[in-house]
Amino acid sequence: MKILVTGGTGFMGSALVRRLAADGHAVTALGSRDADLMRPDALDRFNATRFDQIYHLAAWTQAGDFCLRHPGEQWVHNQQINTTVLGWCSQSQPQAKLIAIGTSCAYDPNLPLVEDNFLAGLPIDSLFTYGMTKRMLYVGLRALAQQFGLKYLFVVPSTLYGPGYHTDGRQLHFVFDLLRKIIRGRMLGEPVVLWGDGHQSRELVLADDFVQATVELAACTDNGLVNIGAGQEYSIRHFAQLICDEVGFDFDRIKFDTSRYVGARSKCLDIARLTELLPNFRQTPLAEGLRQTVAWFRDEHAAWLTAAEREAPLHAAS
Ligand SMILES: NC(=O)c1ccc[n+]([C@@H]2O[C@H](COP(=O)([O-])OP(=O)(O)OC[C@H]3O[C@@H](n4cnc5c(N)ncnc54)[C@H](OP(=O)(O)O)[C@@H]3O)[C@@H](O)[C@H]2O)c1
Repeated sequence: MKILVTGGTGFMGSALVRRLAADGHAVTALGSRDADLMRPDALDRFNATRFDQIYHLAAWTQAGDFCLRHPGEQWVHNQQINTTVLGWCSQSQPQAKLIAIGTSCAYDPNLPLVEDNFLAGLPIDSLFTYGMTKRMLYVGLRALAQQFGLKYLFVVPSTLYGPGYHTDGRQLHFVFDLLRKIIRGRMLGEPVVLWGDGHQSRELVLADDFVQATVELAACTDNGLVNIGAGQEYSIRHFAQLICDEVGFDFDRIKFDTSRYVGARSKCLDIARLTELLPNFRQTPLAEGLRQTVAWFRDEHAAWLTAAEREAPLHAAS
């Protein structure tokens, strides 16, 4: 198939592009330097190409308290990016299936995180604008399907992890922040201070598992919204303990800073629909996924360390 991927240079996009190319598809992967989707005409140079699938991953966001500090920019950037892509798809690529990415942050945390509730209630205050722009993306897909017959799939992931995350100093998803702090504690003897009391719960999906499910769903689902979560959540303390075991750091040396922002207390997607659609889909066990991620971090992720720090072997500190 001919496939276009927006956000193809990102964390999720890189994993998706690798997978699609390995499956033998002709993939056009775009980052913001290839096509700035803030410009309405950004995709016009592809008008003559007939894509079979368009994966729309591009979004302007980061983890941590980024959404809390940039709501205005997030609204402008994400609304513009999504409008560029949806407008272009409806006008220029009516034959293509559009696969777009939501976020679990768009759900009202006081309601069950089941697909029928995606537009119900309100997202948590700190993620309100980001969540609402993802809701509007879904509303746009439905509207274009209704009026122009667009075929779409909207997948809602929980937090992804795995090898290959960013090295450019942006705010990190919690698991990478845990990894960085614990590995630096082990290597450099730095104090390890985690935000919150550690009892807040999260779920994680390995990026390659997410890609596997999305590609399979794209082949078998038309015009639907599907959650892709792990089906089970754990406390931050549990994730930290697993990472400590893998890295060789004493969990009891970790300090918890209850004055810091931690977001929702609990977040776990209902995955009954995913299980029904893909009954044979199996996810990588958490301990194995973390082992892969720690190995990548240790072996390839020197960019977060200074030159002197890089010379210290991982298991050198006591
Ligand atoms: N990672 C997660 O855990 C997670 C969880 C839930 C939902 N999501 C959603 O999944 C999607 C991908 O996430 P990710 O983690 O891969 O994000 P990411 O690593 O930050 O990647 C974002 C991508 O969007 C592109 N982009 C940003 N602004 C753009 C613009 N103006 N024009 C064109 N492209 C632009 C970036 O291009 P450049 O890098 O070239 O600038 C990059 O390829 C996003 O829609 C995100 O909301 C991710």
